[in-house]
Amino acid sequence: MRFDPSTRAARDPAGMLDLLQRFPQMCEQAWALTPEPSLPATKPQAVVALGMGGSGIGGDLLRAVLFDETAPPIVSVKDYRAPGFAGPQTLVLACSYSGDTEETLNAYEDASTRGAACVAITSGGELLRRARQRRHPVVVVPKGLPPRAALPYLFLPMLAALSQTGAVRAFDAEVHDAMPVIRRVVDEQGPDRPDSPARRLAEQLVGRIPVIYSAVPFLEPAAERWKDQFNENAKQFAVWNTFPELNHNETVGWGLDPALARLLHVILLRDATEPDRLALRVAITRDLALSRAAGIDEVRAGGSGKLARLLSVILIGDFVSWYLALLRGVDPTPVAVIDELKRRLAKG
Ligand code: F6R
Repeated sequence: MRFDPSTRAARDPAGMLDLLQRFPQMCEQAWALTPEPSLPATKPQAVVALGMGGSGIGGDLLRAVLFDETAPPIVSVKDYRAPGFAGPQTLVLACSYSGDTEETLNAYEDASTRGAACVAITSGGELLRRARQRRHPVVVVPKGLPPRAALPYLFLPMLAALSQTGAVRAFDAEVHDAMPVIRRVVDEQGPDRPDSPARRLAEQLVGRIPVIYSAVPFLEPAAERWKDQFNENAKQFAVWNTFPELNHNETVGWGLDPALARLLHVILLRDATEPDRLALRVAITRDLALSRAAGIDEVRAGGSGKLARLLSVILIGDFVSWYLALLRGVDPTPVAVIDELKRRLAKG
């Protein structure tokens, strides 16, 4: 298939490609967004990020980035409830792009009632209204995007806010270093490049179920995001898991019927700083189990900083899901099933 401008316009009428190409710009803008009013210097005992779907992945990324830092524990919550420990010593980051996601609103109520320090990250809706009424600091992000395409706005302001309070170290240098790496992803993976690796991978995936494995726990949210983007952009079922955990269960599941194994295409997300033991696990697992799949591809995170590695591998996946949508003949932007579900829930 040709991915020339007229095909893109016909098959991607709402311009998802344009949003993917603006990802680096969005990262720059997002890093400058701060809560209003600003947060006081604080050392919370824990940080809870509330959010669902495209607005939930930011909390997962925050946890991955801060896992090996001197930082308060980060808990990413996708639930109607705030965790039982949430109270006055907890900082709660309530993130909903629309501001109207019922799980997030409910968990925010829960946390707010228990006296947690709350910050809202949203483009509007009920969350903005309630946060303003309670004088909770708010990061207002630009409106009018599909939430999943607004990822930079739903993640980086959380990290920026934590840095500003002194709860975690400064990340300005890492954000700065990540920019050329993600700009390169846009150049190398976009449809003006006939040799785009994302395009070649998407072509392999037609008629197959993507199985995305992160080689290291650090890239776990990237594996989840790849799955989510296959689901929402390409309207395609996909699964994800992570090493080393999958070696203790899912590896055995590769004993499935050969006819089913032939439907699966494995995508291994590899990290530049993989410990030798994890690399060895991936090699042995390829040999023992994954070789039964219809195909195996490896995608490498770019750059050396944590943000460059995570964001680059995520953006490559976003492009793969976009190509797959066009190859499948589906419009990458609408998520009619989610909209209908929310409509029916609102009536119920
Ligand atoms: C749509 C998307 C969804 C939403 C989710 C929560 O692009 O990615 O996963 O993010 O339904 O809605 P918001 O983000 O408005 O809280």
